[in-house]
Amino acid sequence: MTHTRVGIIGAGPAGLLLGHLLSARGVDNVILESRTREHVEHRQRAGVLEQNTVDVLRACGAGARMDRQGLVHEGIELRFDRESHRIDFPSLTGGRTVMVYAQTEVVKDLIALREGPLLFEAEALSADPDTGVVRYRHDDGQHELRCDFVVACDGFHGIGRAAMPSITTFQRDYPFAWLGILADVPPSCQELIYAHHERGFALHSMRSPHVSRLYLQVDPRDDLADWPDERIWDELETRFAVEGDWKLERGPITDRSITPMRSFVAEPMRHRRLFLAGDAAHIVPPTGAKGLNLAAADVTLLARALTGGEEELLGGYSEAALRRVWRAEHFSYQMTSMLHRDPHQTPFDYRLQLSQLRYTAGSPAAQASLAENYVGLPLS
Ligand code: APR
Ligand code: PHB
Repeated sequence: MTHTRVGIIGAGPAGLLLGHLLSARGVDNVILESRTREHVEHRQRAGVLEQNTVDVLRACGAGARMDRQGLVHEGIELRFDRESHRIDFPSLTGGRTVMVYAQTEVVKDLIALREGPLLFEAEALSADPDTGVVRYRHDDGQHELRCDFVVACDGFHGIGRAAMPSITTFQRDYPFAWLGILADVPPSCQELIYAHHERGFALHSMRSPHVSRLYLQVDPRDDLADWPDERIWDELETRFAVEGDWKLERGPITDRSITPMRSFVAEPMRHRRLFLAGDAAHIVPPTGAKGLNLAAADVTLLARALTGGEEELLGGYSEAALRRVWRAEHFSYQMTSMLHRDPHQTPFDYRLQLSQLRYTAGSPAAQASLAENYVGLPLS
């Protein structure tokens, strides 16, 4: 392969979905992925799909297993002050819902559907925005791929962003992290529970009727060794405490990780032949479940522009994508600030937080705002 219309760096959800959308429209593309297929298909990540992402996957023929195995959720629960408050999505958003279906499964589906070239263990070394040449290492040799356009979907630690000549970045790091576990126990709830507690945030999510996914706010300096299984379950039980007979079921923990929390945006998302999409351009804290969905929105916009190839559409990609990115950044920041205990928080801050939670739980207007951002604002 020496030439292609669109060279895509990275086989995460952004790169794979872009490749699939372009192939479906007859646009030649090549995907280069530095890791093995095994690694890419087993990386634990988030698992809530916005209505838009569900619609895009269905429309491009990649939604069959999602519709068979995914869980349609019509709401979430906010839990604080030992009380539960449900946010009903369809009634607040004109019928929109979300789908609980792991990012890992989306990646597996897109790889299985892949038609064009997809090279694993092919690390992109450089990408030239002017010539469209991508140099990459594969099979112990260095190679060049000449592209009309290059899309860096290579995540936060990729080479794409560094290849942009002038970029402005915006960042906020949070003084807490998430300890995430996967457990072989049926979920103790029908819908996700976002819990605020004076000891910190907790989230009860799931992967299937048999597998639970749970998260705990922890100190970013903590080590997994500090968190033996019993301590994790005890802390989750404390933070989910609620009036009534609800009970958190415990089970064998099969996976665990600690993830730092950050908000990050790089502008612009295009320079001449080089485009950024997904985590290569922006990171959101996972509290709003926006990471994967923003990546899907970026490449949906970009696939439209690259299909026509008209400069007008290509020229508008960065601005259109960033409008949506900053909306999701604000929503994710708002959810994170409303639900986590900041170690530097004053008692006054804590009272404000409780007031925000009580207002959100009691006001249809505030609920509608949360609901429409959570299910995803329609793609323009
Ligand atoms: N050459 C080739 N591939 C690369 C390179 C490189 N130099 N650098 C990184 N990659 C690959 C990584 O191995 C990874 O598979 O790019 C891919 C980037 O995938 P993701 O990090 O999943 O990013 P993206 O596709 O934008 O998906 C964003 O992933 O991290 C979650 O919360 C995030 O849900 C969001 C989603
Ligand atoms: C998950 O299921 O992993 C998940 C769900 C909702 C979030 C974050 C992660 O906000």
